[in-house]
Amino acid sequence: MSTNKTFTMIKPDAVADGNSGAIIKMIEEAGFRIVALKKTKLTAERAGEFYAVHAERPFYNDLCKYMSSGAIIPMILEKDNAVADFRTLIGATNPANADEGTIRKLFAKSIEANAIHGSDSDENAQIEGNFFFGQVEQY
Ligand code: CMP
Repeated sequence: MSTNKTFTMIKPDAVADGNSGAIIKMIEEAGFRIVALKKTKLTAERAGEFYAVHAERPFYNDLCKYMSSGAIIPMILEKDNAVADFRTLIGATNPANADEGTIRKLFAKSIEANAIHGSDSDENAQIEGNFFFGQVEQY
C-alpha cells in the first residue's frame, strides 16, 4: 500500500555549500509537504547503518566517510505518489546522467557527493524515516 510519504536527506556537500534553502524551496514548489525536518550529523558508524544495504559495494567506506563529514538535513515528505515523484525531482544518482532542472543536475558535485538522497520504495521510506525521526507527530 502506498503511504504517500518519502524520506530524503540533503547531503553534506549541499549543506556546506549553502544550497539547502534553494533545495527545500524546489521541494516545496514541487508540491511536497514537509512532515519532519532537522539538521544533524551522522557518525561514520551511523552512516554505515543507514547504508548497510551497500556494505558490499566498493564505494561503501568512502560513502560512510563522506556522509559523516558534515551536517545533513533529513526530512520526511508527503505528496501523492511521493516516492516516484521525488526521484523524478532529484534526478539520476550520477549527476552526469541527471535531467536538466533536477536537484542533482543543479547541485550535485559527483556520483558520491550527489547533494540529496531519495528513498527508492515505500518500505524503505518508512525504514529510513524511522531511522532519523522514530514515530512522528502529524502536523
Ligand atoms: P543515494 O541515492 O543516497 O544512495 C547510495 C549512495 O551511494 C548514492 O546516493 C551515492 O551518494 C553513493 N553512490 C552510489 N553509487 C556510487 C558509486 N558508483 N560511486 C560512489 N558513490 C556512489
